[in-house]
Amino acid sequence: MKITVVGAGFVGATTAQRLAEKELGDIVLHDIVEGMPQGKALDMMESACLEDFDSTVQGTNDPADYSGSDVVVITSGLARQPGMSRDDLLLKNAEIVGGVAENVRKYAPDAIVIVVSNPLDVMTYLVGAKTGFPKHRVMGMAGVLDSARFRCFIAMELGVSHRDVEAMVLGGHGDDMVPLARYSTVSGIGIEALLPKEKIDAMIVRTRNGGAEIVKLLQKGSAYYAPSAAAVQMVQSIVRDEKRILPVAAYCTGQYGIKGQFVGVPVQLGRKGVEKIIELSLTENELKQLQASASHVAASVEKLGV
Ligand SMILES: NC(=O)c1ccc[n+]([C@@H]2O[C@H](COP(=O)([O-])OP(=O)(O)OC[C@H]3O[C@@H](n4cnc5c(N)ncnc54)[C@H](O)[C@@H]3O)[C@@H](O)[C@H]2O)c1
Repeated sequence: MKITVVGAGFVGATTAQRLAEKELGDIVLHDIVEGMPQGKALDMMESACLEDFDSTVQGTNDPADYSGSDVVVITSGLARQPGMSRDDLLLKNAEIVGGVAENVRKYAPDAIVIVVSNPLDVMTYLVGAKTGFPKHRVMGMAGVLDSARFRCFIAMELGVSHRDVEAMVLGGHGDDMVPLARYSTVSGIGIEALLPKEKIDAMIVRTRNGGAEIVKLLQKGSAYYAPSAAAVQMVQSIVRDEKRILPVAAYCTGQYGIKGQFVGVPVQLGRKGVEKIIELSLTENELKQLQASASHVAASVEKLGV
């Protein structure tokens, strides 16, 4: 497998490192800053004998090196600073991500594309439009990260192993994302049977603010350890055809009453990309929240005029 990571900043470089260490394919790491992706790639290659992997990592400034990629992960673009919302990144990142999408269409026409750049759902829409790829080959990473944050808070609150906790977060990657307590479990036991409502509500709020909490602590830039791990879990499900059920920003064609839009929903992820969208049975209130989140995404897409 050939996997290209576009953007060799915090998220991109950590993604490349995790992909190589898991030997999911040979990696191309692209950035516009001269020497930087080459330096990071060489540094990673020098760790191969210590971390015991045979994947190669090639740094480049030339998008022609995307050629023949099976998967492309787009992480290029500005990250949030304290006080900024993801939407504040819209216009600048649209310029960057739009240009990258054109290169992906030109050099990697058969690739499956995972968008990471923010604002996530809108950037995914833009990549879908600019590449013109079939929509099952374009998706965004957000739900896996947001669910991992919810899982982490549940495990910390209960003092149980993180491995036993499952959670589901739907909707756009913004303040109005929809963490679903009803579909969150510890070894199959619903969290509503294990925790009082106030605790669950507090964890839902913390999950929604999970990105901002880290931006505030770092004071410069945003999260990248968990985001890169989330992107890599998606790549792995694709290249190994694992068919995992994961929440990703996928193109809805009427599911959940949402049409013609990328928004976070549970999907089956395999070698063909988004192989199926799973329709959960939602309460009226959950559905209303999901649709409100989707409307927010649609309004931002409209601002871009794509
Ligand atoms: N979806 C999510 O859950 C999630 C989580 C974390 C971060 N993000 C987003 O990911 C993006 C990257 O975050 P980061 O922390 O790595 O930022 P960063 O600033 O460390 O890295 C971004 C990199 O993109 C590069 N770049 C800019 N234009 C480019 C182009 N045309 N081609 C190739 N590379 C280009 C920059 O030189 C820089 O190295 C941000 O938009 C951030 O908001 C999303």
